[in-house]
Amino acid sequence: MKLPGEGSALDRFAARLLAQRAYLAEAARRIANLPGPVFEIGLGKGRTYDHLRRLLPQRAIYCFDREHHAPPEESPPAELLVIGEIQTTLPALAARLGAKAALAHCDIGTRKPARDMEFARYLAATLPGLMAAGGIVLGDRPMESKQLQPLPAPDYARPDGIAAWPYYLYRVTASA
Ligand SMILES: C[S@@+](CC[C@H](N)C(=O)[O-])C[C@H]1O[C@@H](n2cnc3c(N)ncnc32)[C@H](O)[C@@H]1O
Repeated sequence: MKLPGEGSALDRFAARLLAQRAYLAEAARRIANLPGPVFEIGLGKGRTYDHLRRLLPQRAIYCFDREHHAPPEESPPAELLVIGEIQTTLPALAARLGAKAALAHCDIGTRKPARDMEFARYLAATLPGLMAAGGIVLGDRPMESKQLQPLPAPDYARPDGIAAWPYYLYRVTASA
């Protein structure tokens, strides 16, 4: 089994998508009985949003990004699209909503790991206060907080030569 970074760009892309699919399914399963909206942090091209809305058809899924570059068919309705720097828009939306989120998917990775980790530290410090106890946070960067309990990785099938892509799953242990 190849480690991430060792395969071709195509292998790594396949590894990432398989991991996202499995982790999103696990996250959706874990919040089945927990009410609340969903935060999609990093709408990007809308791939994971499109998957999440099929897994959670009854939920309001608020999608955050600094710019809107998802195609219309993979974009949320205008009232659920939140454009701007997430460090500004996320607390503002949460204050307006009043409801605590059940799930936050943080797909924030770029080719600048130091900047990604700074953003991940911000999210780890901020999200627990915006989420219901028992809510789920998952994403492509590790997040450390006393209020985020790491959960085991879901088991999922991968074709030969496709590594397990690093993804991270947490349960919110307390809400501020
Ligand atoms: C990896 S992409 C998301 C991919 C997307 N989930 C998909 O499946 O198509 C990360 C996105 O996060 C956005 N982003 C990263 N940091 C941000 C920030 N601080 N504020 C707003 N958007 C940010 C980028 O603009 C980019 O579109």
